[in-house]
Amino acid sequence: MNTDQLIKVFKAKFSGDYAVFSAPGRINIIGEHTDYNNGFVLPGAIDKTIDLVIKINHNSNIINVIANDLKEEESITKDTTKTKYHWTKYILGVVCELTKLGCNIPGFDCVFGGNVPVGSGMSSSAALESAVGLALNELLGLKLSRIQLAKAGQMAEHNYVGVRCGIMDQFASLFGEKGKLVKLDCRSLEYEMIPFNPENYSIVLMDTRVSHSLASSEYNKRRASCEEGVGIISAKYPEVKSLRDVTFNMLEEFIDDMQIETYKRCLYVIGETVRMQKACDALKTNDFITLGNLMFECHDGLQLLYEVSCKELDFLVYTAGKFDGAIGSRMMGGGFGGCTISLVETAKEKDFIEHSSNKFKTEFGYLPHVHEVKIAEGARRII
Ligand code: GLA
Repeated sequence: MNTDQLIKVFKAKFSGDYAVFSAPGRINIIGEHTDYNNGFVLPGAIDKTIDLVIKINHNSNIINVIANDLKEEESITKDTTKTKYHWTKYILGVVCELTKLGCNIPGFDCVFGGNVPVGSGMSSSAALESAVGLALNELLGLKLSRIQLAKAGQMAEHNYVGVRCGIMDQFASLFGEKGKLVKLDCRSLEYEMIPFNPENYSIVLMDTRVSHSLASSEYNKRRASCEEGVGIISAKYPEVKSLRDVTFNMLEEFIDDMQIETYKRCLYVIGETVRMQKACDALKTNDFITLGNLMFECHDGLQLLYEVSCKELDFLVYTAGKFDGAIGSRMMGGGFGGCTISLVETAKEKDFIEHSSNKFKTEFGYLPHVHEVKIAEGARRII
């Protein structure tokens, strides 16, 4: 992303030396809604970033922020309880979470902007949190690890935004590497970088442009259902701490003890954990056909059991399923809107995009957005 414009705005509004940090959004190949169930995920950082021009003001506790793309600005302090804008919560949240870790965060001036599409399920919010956390860590010499920064971003979402998310998005933004996926064990936070260079296939993101307005409340409900399921199962199996520890057979024992909705949510998560492992095995042998099939299965689960899809996402996945050359497709991220991620033969990528876009337009009356992404490096200082 070109940061010149952000620097120009910074110089016009503030003064003094500045530093520039950049943090990416993410895609996720498979392993959806598994992170807060202590399972595995397989995200990658992408070449779309949120960039932050920042200067610390050691003599002040005021945090002045400009959201360049939105042409909005706000001044807050750590003690601000109600922000004027939604995006300010991400910054306030990170500042407050770092403060809870014992860090002394003075005021600062900053301008941010970028090209991670907002509301597309590519985690622009985690990118912003990661950029702010990394900048404060480095400029103030806080000596926090990237894992601590990822957790601070996650807790900012829980405590200041109200979304009880897992750690996948912040982790991917901070730990991503070019051409590699992060296979993250969300229980131990151990991770493995898995090369992802499907020579003959491309990743295509098609954005329904449906904004996921239900996302935060329904997301928290899904998490609560999973926890409810664990509560019921662990009464008999105390070793069960999360759905990660539950097998299909175990769940079947409790089918009459839980609401059908809770059962369906648990069934999806257990299935996704199995798919995730199969996907990693398939990647080891570059078996993209198997990976693609698992992506279709994942979507079925998200649509029918976890119920976090929407008709626009379902339509795109269905259309991909009928297109010769699209070997996998599913909705990506929290759901209720945003993007599908598809694995498509590179030679047929253009046709696929045209075909899906036209079908979508006939059905819904407008064109989806297509995002081209590459798997790229994680958050870093660039100036
Ligand atoms: C959102 C959350 C993540 C994860 C995904 C679903 O992106 O922020 O923690 O739960 O949804 O996989």
